Amino acid sequence: MTWVEMKTRGLREEAQGILAVELCMADASPLPFRWEPGAHVDVQTGSGVVRQYSLTNLADEGCLRLAIKHADDSRGGSRWLHQQLRVGDRLKVSAPRNLFPLQPGVGPVLLVAAGIGVTPLLAMYQQCRAQQRPVQLLYFSRSAAHSAFIEQFQGDPAVSVVTGLAAAEVGAYLDQHLPAWQADSQLYTCGPGGFMASVQHLAAERGWPSQALFQEHFQAPVASGSQQAELVLARSGKTVTVNAGESLVDAAQRVGVTISTSCGMGMCGACMTGVVSGEIEHRDQYLSDAERVSGKWIMPCVSGCTAGRLELDA
Ligand code: FES
Repeated sequence: MTWVEMKTRGLREEAQGILAVELCMADASPLPFRWEPGAHVDVQTGSGVVRQYSLTNLADEGCLRLAIKHADDSRGGSRWLHQQLRVGDRLKVSAPRNLFPLQPGVGPVLLVAAGIGVTPLLAMYQQCRAQQRPVQLLYFSRSAAHSAFIEQFQGDPAVSVVTGLAAAEVGAYLDQHLPAWQADSQLYTCGPGGFMASVQHLAAERGWPSQALFQEHFQAPVASGSQQAELVLARSGKTVTVNAGESLVDAAQRVGVTISTSCGMGMCGACMTGVVSGEIEHRDQYLSDAERVSGKWIMPCVSGCTAGRLELDA
């Protein structure tokens, strides 16, 4: 991965527990890349971990804007950014990648966000407005104080910010307000897994075809392989049993073989490892379709194997 050194030009408490970060090139030159809404960047935090954050703005602005939630269970990434980052500090940032692109078209777009899931949808919202494409944003948030970008949404009839609902009430609200599918409409959702599953389920009930539904996961897959497997580590000649739900990285570590990781979420590419033999259960968001089909590579922080034995070049 190629890293670009960027400078922190602005920091603001966007909402309770959400830090807005503006980044520009460290040497004040124009950005060396562009992106489309839905893209994210990898950020090397001062704590040594790499985290992925959606870009909340459009490329024409000439800077990167992120909105970073302080994760309660932070392993150092968001906590470091919230507590240590200062205006003027430099950060290493990857070129943007997009696993959640806004699809081309002119039909209406419905954006349904919960919590920090609003970040990629904000960029999509701005793009639709700029292109005069019909768009509506429905944004669920814990409270007004926890709601990001609230000033910019104020008085906008295309945006509904719904605060203070318990999970069951969110389901009931969606049940009442989610519209039936119309030709050429697209629905994008981002938020916790259960929330997105509920949006997808209700949308399907209202006739939305699966090709019109798009979602982005912010969290790592819960487990690695779904069943026990034998892991052979070719370089060291060691073999270890991988327990159901255990990652290949953790299993290898138990017999003293360290596979380098960074995000631990199947997104950054740091743990990419060659496969000698075995059928892979890919669960990452990093490998291309061609790389998956080749059967030569695996992201062992999240992926596993479908058959009982996997041999890695590690
Ligand atoms: S550690 Fe980032 S993809 Fe595995």
